[in-house]
Amino acid sequence: MTSFEASPVTGAERWIGQPLDRRDGPAKTTGTARYSAEYPFDDLAYAALVCAAITRGRITSIDTAAASALPGVLAVITHQNAPKMKETGAQDVDRGVFTASATSVPYLNIDEIHWNGQPVAVVVAETADIARDAASLVQVTYDEWPAVVDFVAELGNARKQPENSLLSQHADNGDAEAALAAAPIAVDLRFTTSPLHHNAIELHATTAVWLGDRLTVYEGTQNMSLLRSHLAEKFDVDPNGVRVISQFVGGAFGGKTLAWPGTVLTVLAARVTQRPVKLMLTREDVYRTVGGRTVSSQRLALGAEADGTLTSLIHTSITAKGSVGGYPEQVCSCSRSLYASPNLLLRQDIVQLDRLTNTIMRAPGEAIGTFSIESAIDELAHRLRHDPIELRMRNEPKVNPADETPFSHRRIRETYALGAERFGWADRTPEPGSMRDGHHLVGMGVATAFHPAWQFPAELTIRIAADGSVLVRCGFHEMGMGGATAYAQATADLLGVAYDAVTVEYGDSELPPGPGAGGSGQTASVMASLINACDELKRSVHATAQRDPASPLQGTDYDAVQARAGGLFRGSIGGRYETILERAGIPEIDVRVGSDGQPGGDTGTWVKAAAGAQFCEVRVDPDTMEVRIARWVGAFDIGTVLNLKTASSQLRGGIVWGIGLALTEATLVDPRNGRIMNPSLAEYHVPVHADVPPIEVHILDDPDPTMPLGVLGCGEVGITGAAAAVANAIHHATGKRVTDLPITIDKLL
Ligand code: MOS
Repeated sequence: MTSFEASPVTGAERWIGQPLDRRDGPAKTTGTARYSAEYPFDDLAYAALVCAAITRGRITSIDTAAASALPGVLAVITHQNAPKMKETGAQDVDRGVFTASATSVPYLNIDEIHWNGQPVAVVVAETADIARDAASLVQVTYDEWPAVVDFVAELGNARKQPENSLLSQHADNGDAEAALAAAPIAVDLRFTTSPLHHNAIELHATTAVWLGDRLTVYEGTQNMSLLRSHLAEKFDVDPNGVRVISQFVGGAFGGKTLAWPGTVLTVLAARVTQRPVKLMLTREDVYRTVGGRTVSSQRLALGAEADGTLTSLIHTSITAKGSVGGYPEQVCSCSRSLYASPNLLLRQDIVQLDRLTNTIMRAPGEAIGTFSIESAIDELAHRLRHDPIELRMRNEPKVNPADETPFSHRRIRETYALGAERFGWADRTPEPGSMRDGHHLVGMGVATAFHPAWQFPAELTIRIAADGSVLVRCGFHEMGMGGATAYAQATADLLGVAYDAVTVEYGDSELPPGPGAGGSGQTASVMASLINACDELKRSVHATAQRDPASPLQGTDYDAVQARAGGLFRGSIGGRYETILERAGIPEIDVRVGSDGQPGGDTGTWVKAAAGAQFCEVRVDPDTMEVRIARWVGAFDIGTVLNLKTASSQLRGGIVWGIGLALTEATLVDPRNGRIMNPSLAEYHVPVHADVPPIEVHILDDPDPTMPLGVLGCGEVGITGAAAAVANAIHHATGKRVTDLPITIDKLL
């Protein structure tokens, strides 16, 4: 557990790990934080989208007369009058294309419709109400074409997903089918999961301001650099003249990583009207124009000896992408690393649908892939009459099962030991239906959490002023994780200065480009550069001190200075503390580090991952089969904990979403036409307070030796395994093995 002993480097108080309040907390809780839709401009105009009501086809006519005639309407932009924008392909991970464009559709530059909800017009008006009113008056007629939208009907047309440089998800070791057939005991299960949406509290919003060919965009994005270069390309302007400001992001979870049509069309609207333009999507617009998590159909088969030793593991998946873009979610990737098996078959297939493209959403692939493997291992334990934790420990691998790559660090045993003790696993009686609390059936379930550790390039500057204050500047993203707080803590320890002496700037593309906030990799990415920058800064200060005959650091070598209590920057001179820079008459020292030479280019050398053990207790009403989550304990290994409060909150948030994934959330798609049927929070059920029990989070705080400062990342691992923990608890309570998410009451009756 995190403790607060003195720093071994400086002898000073250790800031890393402390559960400090988030620096952005007061601004957010008092309402002074400015989100993308809250930047005021005197001549601000408002945009609204008109979205296609058909799935595939061509616009035959578009009547904008009534909309244009509405007082206050400034422009109605359609494919008939929109200026030509540059065509860009969609992001395509399989082909190594990392543009920000979510789809390949040239919005408003074509008359062709590729999905039900594709924008066909943008209206600009003096107020948001007028814009929406006018949007409702735009009359579109279409020539409709047949569309491929039904995932289940298309399963037979799935194609093998290519391997790509980012993600390895296939494996074919030994003969898994033969080993399965020969196994004394086997499970072979089909799993299905629903499409999902992110539902961030902050609706996607863009404010765009042109000044000649210079563009400023206020947008809550997870990747300012990517958005900036995409908009420069799309509108054919110099990227140096494009600025993206993203000071606060009201939740994102992957849904604000790419440029969706609303962003592009706001920038277009501002260019056409020569006014600052703001567009905040409605919740329905978000469903229609921003992708979510894929639907999936999976097979998970396990063969074992009578003692529980696995002899075969098969995990195959079919997911969907849009025909105009999408992301190959890594459904099978965790199965490369969880259990030792001499015979291993992993394969991912994809179908293309005329639906809005999917996109990354908190633990894309891992969240639903761990549902299958962690349910199947529980089922195997049940059939073997083994304890599900013991069965997992028996099959705990020494090296990565898929390719024998060593683990940089693996603490799954320790997380189970810690979690089992805190949860009280020993009190569980194994037989399904054997535990009761009055009228209710009690179920206890467990599952492994696992998420790879990523690291991306990050540039930053760090400056120390003569008064000892430190400024870190890095274009990273703050979408609720507490980055600025944690990075100030790390900087304080790395330099041996006080936490309050450190200011951290972020959320602006004018800053040195930071990493995208994705893959739970932002913190490790920033840490890699921060370590280099602090080191350079200390060397620079030390060198400065050597030139000052009166400096208390005279004649010391750098390592000695490093170890000196109180750090580098103050020497006690004449009874008062004075900084070395003050003494030397140097106003400040500024260091910039790029992303060269970062550690972390060793993902082929090591399998690196955050992991954990999820423990869930349910109460099931035996008459109505209503499921309530009663209690949750999660024990995690995320490497070093930079801030116990923010890390715990990340993990807890992931678990809350895992409860939604398990029990309530589903984006319902009409199989006839691919239109989303429940595009609102009234009909898409996210977990609310009443659905969420007290969640205990425990963290080992054990640094990973191969990651910067030992950080593995904690944004996504919390949702992995969570749905299986719920499903396994329900099985324990009721004897029913539900393999289709969400587990709604009808599946239990
Ligand atoms: Mo996360 S899906 O990488 O925001």
